Amino acid sequence: RAHRIAVIPGDGIGKEVVPAGLDVLRAAADAFDLRLEFEEFDFACAAYWQAHGAMLPQDWQTILQGFDAIYFGAVGWPEVVPDHVSLWGSLIQFRRVFDQYVNLRPCRLMPGVRGPLAGRGPGDIDFLVVRENTEGEYSSVGGRIFEGTERETVLQETVMTRIGVDRVLRYAFEQARRRPERHLTSATKSNGISISMPYWDERVRAIAAEYPDVTWDQYHIDALAAHFVLNPDRFDVVVASNLFGDILSDLGPACTGTLGIAPSANINPERRHPSLFEPVHGSAPDIAGRGVANPIGQIWCGSMMLEHLGHPAAAAHVLAAIESVLAEASPRTLTPDLHGTGTTAGLGKAIAERVRAT
Ligand code: NAI
Ligand code: MG
Repeated sequence: RAHRIAVIPGDGIGKEVVPAGLDVLRAAADAFDLRLEFEEFDFACAAYWQAHGAMLPQDWQTILQGFDAIYFGAVGWPEVVPDHVSLWGSLIQFRRVFDQYVNLRPCRLMPGVRGPLAGRGPGDIDFLVVRENTEGEYSSVGGRIFEGTERETVLQETVMTRIGVDRVLRYAFEQARRRPERHLTSATKSNGISISMPYWDERVRAIAAEYPDVTWDQYHIDALAAHFVLNPDRFDVVVASNLFGDILSDLGPACTGTLGIAPSANINPERRHPSLFEPVHGSAPDIAGRGVANPIGQIWCGSMMLEHLGHPAAAAHVLAAIESVLAEASPRTLTPDLHGTGTTAGLGKAIAERVRAT
């Protein structure tokens, strides 16, 4: 059976890296005899918003619900639409309405990539951040009173539900169970945040009892951030609330050399709704239009999509092609963020060819 995939390139470099990602997916489909059907949508600031004054059509849910997955570039064009409007009008709608309550962000120091941490090589950094994606600190519960006066007061609540916390913890423990180290680290701050974070810790302890084969520990978020930089080899699976996970999942990739290679997946594990696969980076207006964005984040999240669609061998094959091109490519093939002089299209083509050749 064919997998139907909705493609949303979005804005800026999204429109440059998505075609490279699609080339690699087509190569993988040919190599593994898979049927992938792509349908493209112009839901972006620079296209849809400018014509309709909204990021998405009213019936977007009906339009996208029938797809098996969403392959997403990035949205954001601050000159046209303020960032909180484009993000809440698009990506955050998908996450919430499609109940994509797990955000998965693998961090791996790849061969041939110069990371910023002295003395660290491939193998030293290889962990998976599991971020809660639908509640926590990113609630819209709160308000502002006495606006414009000296007594101006602003309040925003954190929302943690038993269902919401337990399900992301179980997902993280399941991931840890499937990896060789079988270790889970929980990000907390229960010394300072005295109501919600102790609850998080309590649920971690309760769920951990269901996974006696997984070892676990917890760190306060401030110390954890320092350890990401100083001792990244300590980590295997790291589970965190929405805000803490957001911060860690940018810090993690930064420790691996470039934001340009980092992938992410917004998953609805029950498969009641499509999951969404996107690079960690945004639309990068500072380099957009020059054809020099690194396409590897987009290509790697294609590998995560293949895995989610039930094709682990194809997924592993794409990842191996990325690794071998990174290890062997000349600077003429690598993009400027990897200290090369290559282009988005050139690096994408090299990886697609490697997928077909091996
Ligand atoms: P950004 O990730 O777009 O760029 C940050 C820096 O990293 C820039 O210097 C950029 O040139 C560089 N960079 C990013 N991706 C790269 C790649 N593939 N290859 C080489 N260099 C790369 O983040 P920024 O500048 O904060 O946001 C720009 C726009 O993107 C904003 O409108 C923001 O709201 C949006 N955004 C959208 C996201 C999404 O759709 N998921 C995620 C993050 C930001
Ligand atoms: Mg972020």
